[in-house]
Amino acid sequence: MKHALDPDDSSFNQKSKNESLSVDLLRDLSDDLISQLKRVGFLSLKDIVIEGPSELSSKSGLSINESNLIYNLAITYLEDMGIMEMRFTPATTIYHKRKKIGRISTGSRNFDKLLGGGIETNAITEVYGEFGTGKTQLCHTVSVMVQLNQSEGGLDGRALYVDTENTFRPERIETISKTRNQDPDKILDNIIVAKAYSSAHQELILSESSHIIESQDIKLLIFDSAISLYRSEFIGLSSLSLRQQRLNKLFHSMMRIAQTHQVAVLLANQVQSSPETGYGNMPFKAAGGNIFAHASTYRIFLRKSNRNRIARMVDSPNHPESEIVFTINESGITDPKTSN
Ligand code: GTP
Ligand code: MG
Repeated sequence: MKHALDPDDSSFNQKSKNESLSVDLLRDLSDDLISQLKRVGFLSLKDIVIEGPSELSSKSGLSINESNLIYNLAITYLEDMGIMEMRFTPATTIYHKRKKIGRISTGSRNFDKLLGGGIETNAITEVYGEFGTGKTQLCHTVSVMVQLNQSEGGLDGRALYVDTENTFRPERIETISKTRNQDPDKILDNIIVAKAYSSAHQELILSESSHIIESQDIKLLIFDSAISLYRSEFIGLSSLSLRQQRLNKLFHSMMRIAQTHQVAVLLANQVQSSPETGYGNMPFKAAGGNIFAHASTYRIFLRKSNRNRIARMVDSPNHPESEIVFTINESGITDPKTSN
């Protein structure tokens, strides 16, 4: 379905009883407004919802009141189209919808079980852990798994891989594909890689990702890693508040992308030492502070255990805190031999 802000698009001339004021506004300004929005990069209703009213206002020059109206109108249309959840939805409807939610296998049955079946669409899944705990290996493996059909643990979709640490390796994708009996050329063709060189560049990539997701049938958006560029650029206490503001905006955009495009967002995150370490506490906590903690739907802590790795569900709205064992081999993330 196309949602371009086309002046001829009849959806813009329809009167919605909830949003008559906004429709009047659009009808009055229609042509000029639409070309104004297009000129500053708002090509679809989803773009408006993902960017949010303050961004709409600052990029287009519209007042915040006008931007709020247009934003609410865009949400209403997406609700009417069944793309976003209707306002005031019975919980049973949400429950039935959630049963059908898309999930992508991690490559390990143990890991999938920890996640209740795999990495969920419409949500942000964050994995954090020390170096070498398997974050990048998970990102590589899931980029392959998303392309499989549903009975094999995929979603028949493509992956958009944002690489901020220069650790994406096509050779690794080739090995994982071959050991999983997939054609490596086809798999590589279906992974779109965006290398980010600075936090500003990462934000530009995110703002442009909406069009790629829509046109390329992307089902998985990866950030490996999500905040390393911010950590290296914003150093010291004096820049902390600006860094957190930028991260806050970044994560809200990510969540809106997950929900409006119905994709899974997978974030790799670094750790920092935790001063509260003591009995029962973990020696590391995820970088990014509270902003990151609240933004992720699911948070998983990875650690080494001899040759294996342990994944622990640390925060989830619907999973108990529990942990599983997985391993890394030629096929990427998988189960240790003994648990097969
Ligand atoms: P940082 O990005 O440094 O924070 O670490 P990370 O958590 O992203 O680590 P990564 O996912 O890159 O995991 C590295 C681990 O995977 C190392 O222990 C490697 O030995 C292992 N690994 C990578 N490729 C292979 C492979 O082809 N076979 C096997 N058996 N292990 C591999
Ligand atoms: Mg890594």
